[in-house]
Amino acid sequence: MKNIAVIGSGYVGLVTGTCFADLGNSVICVDINEERVHDLQNGIMPIYEPGLEEMVRRNIAAGRIRFTTSYADALNDTAKPAELVFIAVNTPMGVDGEAELRYVRSAAESIAKTMDHSLVIINKSTVPVGTGDWVSDIVKNTQPTPIPFSVVSNPEFLREGAAITDFMAPDRVVLGSLNEEAAQRVAQLYLPLRGPIMITDLRTAEMIKYASNAFLATKISFINEIANICEALGADVKEVAAGMGYDKRIGRAFLDAGLGYGGSCFPKDVKALAHMANVQGKHPQLLEAVMMINTDARRLIVSKVRNLIGNNGTHLNRLEGRTIGVLGLAFKANTDDIRESQPIDIIRMLQADGAKVQAYDPVAMKNASQLLQNVRLCEDTYEAIAGCDAVILATEWNEFKNLDLERMHKLMRTPVVIDGRNLYDPQAMSAAGFIYRGVGRGYATAN
Ligand code: UDX
Ligand code: UDX
Repeated sequence: MKNIAVIGSGYVGLVTGTCFADLGNSVICVDINEERVHDLQNGIMPIYEPGLEEMVRRNIAAGRIRFTTSYADALNDTAKPAELVFIAVNTPMGVDGEAELRYVRSAAESIAKTMDHSLVIINKSTVPVGTGDWVSDIVKNTQPTPIPFSVVSNPEFLREGAAITDFMAPDRVVLGSLNEEAAQRVAQLYLPLRGPIMITDLRTAEMIKYASNAFLATKISFINEIANICEALGADVKEVAAGMGYDKRIGRAFLDAGLGYGGSCFPKDVKALAHMANVQGKHPQLLEAVMMINTDARRLIVSKVRNLIGNNGTHLNRLEGRTIGVLGLAFKANTDDIRESQPIDIIRMLQADGAKVQAYDPVAMKNASQLLQNVRLCEDTYEAIAGCDAVILATEWNEFKNLDLERMHKLMRTPVVIDGRNLYDPQAMSAAGFIYRGVGRGYATAN
C-alpha cells in the first residue's frame, strides 16, 4: 500500500487515481475545479466512462480515495504523507500545434511550493520530449528550501470508453527516469497488474507515447487512403482490412476506415510531434500526410451527401432545402467526449452548404449542445431520422447497429444512408431499399 496524490481529476487523472485505489493504495485526487471536486466527493462523475462511477463510489466508501482542492491536504497529510504524486492535468493544443504546458507548469509550481518531504513526481500527461527535465527545473527553482525529489515519466495509454480495462490490463507500462530507484518505486505500483514494465530514460519514455499515438493514427489514415482507392476500384475495404489483419506483422486493430480519428489525443499528439520535428529542422512528411488524409476523411463524407442529394447551387447552397440526420456526436462510441469530434465538423460543413441538420447521440448531446448552433437535437434515433433526405451514421454506438430498417425507410423523405462507420452490409441495405454508401465499400463514389 502506498500513499498517492493525483493532480487533475479529468479522464486520465480520475481513472488512474481510482484504479490505484482499487488496487489497495490510499489516493488523494486534487483538482482546481471546486465544483468538480464537490461532485466527486458525492460520487457524481464529471465524465461518462463505463464502470467508473461504481468504482469511485466503492473506493470512497472503503476510505481509499478522497478528493480535494488543496495541495497541502493532498501532499502533506500528517497521517498519510504522499510518497508519489502523479501530474495528470490537461495539455491542450497550442496555437501552432504545440502542446500547451501552462497547466503542467502550474501543477509543478504548486507541488514545489507545498511539498514538505521528499517525493517522486510522475508525469502522466502527454508532454513534449524534454518536459520531464523542464518540470525538474521548475520544481528545483520554485522550492522555498531544497527538498529532494525525482521526476518519472509514465505516459498513459488509456482509451476513453475502455479506460479501466486499459489500466487494469496494460499491454505495457512505460517508465522513464534518470533515477532508476525512483522508477522502481513507481514500478512497484504496477506489479499487481502483471503487464510488461519497461524502464528507460525520461526523454525516450516521452517519445514512446508520441510515437505510439502517431503510429496508430498512421494506421487509421493508411486504411482511409486504401478505402478511397477501394471505392474507385470496386474493392471492399472491410474485407481488405480483415485480410491484412491476419498477418501478425500488421494486426487487425486500428484498421477501421471511416471518418478518420478525432478525440482529445490523436489530433493533438500527431500535430505536436510534427511541431517538435519542425522546430528541430526535420521534415515530418509522413505525419503531414496522415493529418491531411484525416481531414479529407471528413470532407469525403460531405461530398457523398452532395453527390447523392445536392442541388446545382454553388457550394454555399448545394444542400439548401435538404434535411440531414446525424446519428452520433461523440468522436467514438462509449464516451460523451466531443473534443475534435468528426461528427461536429461534418455538421458544420453541411450547415455551410445550407442543409438543415437534426442529430441524436445517447450520451454526448449535452456537451455537443454547447458547440453546435441551429441543430435540432432529438430525443431518440428515429426522431433524428424522420423527414430526412439523408442520414449519416457518425458514431458506432451499439444502438445504431441494429436499426429497424423498415421503420427508418418509412420515416425518411429519401432513403439515403451514408455509413461513416461501415456498420451495415451494402447488399442488405440495397435490398432494404436504401441508397447506401459506406466508406471504401466497393462503390465508385469517391468524389
Ligand atoms: C489527459 C492528459 O493529461 C493529456 O495530456 C492527454 O493527452 C489526454 O488526457 P484529460 O485527462 O483528458 O487530459 O484532461 P481533462 O479531462 O481536461 O482533465 C484535466 C483536469 O485537470 C481537469 O479536471 C482540470 O480541472 C484539472 N486541472 C487543470 C487542475 O487540477 N489543475 C490545473 O492547473 C489544470
Ligand atoms: C487514444 C489512444 O488509443 C490511447 O492509448 C491514449 O493515448 C489516448 O488516446 P482515444 O482517443 O480514447 O485513445 O480513442 P481511440 O480508441 O484510440 O480512437 C481514437 C479515434 O480514432 C476515434 O475517433 C476513433 O473513432 C478513431 N478510429 C480508431 C478509427 O477511425 N479507426 C480505427 O480503426 C480506430
